[in-house]
Amino acid sequence: MTRRKFLAGNWKMYKTVAEARQFAEQLSRRSTDLSVDADYAVCPPFTALQALRVILPSGVLLGAQNVHPGGNGAYTGEVSVDMLAELGVHYVVVGHSERRQLFGEGDEFIAQKVEAVLQAGLIPILCVGENLNQREHGQTLQVVANQTQTALAGIASTALRALVIAYEPVWAIGSGLTPTPAEAQQVIAHIRSVVGENKGAAVASSVQILYGGSVKPGNIAGFTNQPDIDGALVGGASLAADSFADMALAMNGR
Ligand code: 13P
Repeated sequence: MTRRKFLAGNWKMYKTVAEARQFAEQLSRRSTDLSVDADYAVCPPFTALQALRVILPSGVLLGAQNVHPGGNGAYTGEVSVDMLAELGVHYVVVGHSERRQLFGEGDEFIAQKVEAVLQAGLIPILCVGENLNQREHGQTLQVVANQTQTALAGIASTALRALVIAYEPVWAIGSGLTPTPAEAQQVIAHIRSVVGENKGAAVASSVQILYGGSVKPGNIAGFTNQPDIDGALVGGASLAADSFADMALAMNGR
């Protein structure tokens, strides 16, 4: 099956509402560079979701960077899937390594989030990836396989028609370092085979798997030209509209 390419920007804790509006206006001026044959999303802080919803160029969907898996409840400071759905959010980043490392999120909690996101009809962008120590000990394939399996364990294949996985080696995030495209392809092909073994061939062939970690306009095509790499989850280089549009052009071979 041919999978659509997908460029997603994870803004992390950057941009006020005013700055987010400016990004949307600038990206709108480049909207002809966003080929309709690919998927696009930006994941701003929660505070900018409402403003962006109405001003993003058509074809650029909204993502959230996090969610709490519970329904309404006494969870001070948290946001539920229903609250995100109401704001027109399509995607939710789940299990980003910064959440795992800085906020102590474990595989079980991440699995609950994936399930809650799917149940609400939204699409999880499940992040997996090894740290430097694990890479140096040759554990990359095992680490990403374990993270993928645990996050999807309780979920029926039929519920996984819309799923995105992002392979983000922790050591490549914000560092300017990347694996080679061939190395990323090998890991992503392995993730796809793990999805196949656990959830069946149909899910494995439809799941979009992105590469993330120090992606920029100059290197994105090397990754997205690989057969199993369906796009990129981009931090720093997604913050400027021109850089976002340049990555879209490169990803789409234009
Ligand atoms: P950078 O693109 O800034 O390395 O961040 C990658 C990332 O963590 C996206 O989720």
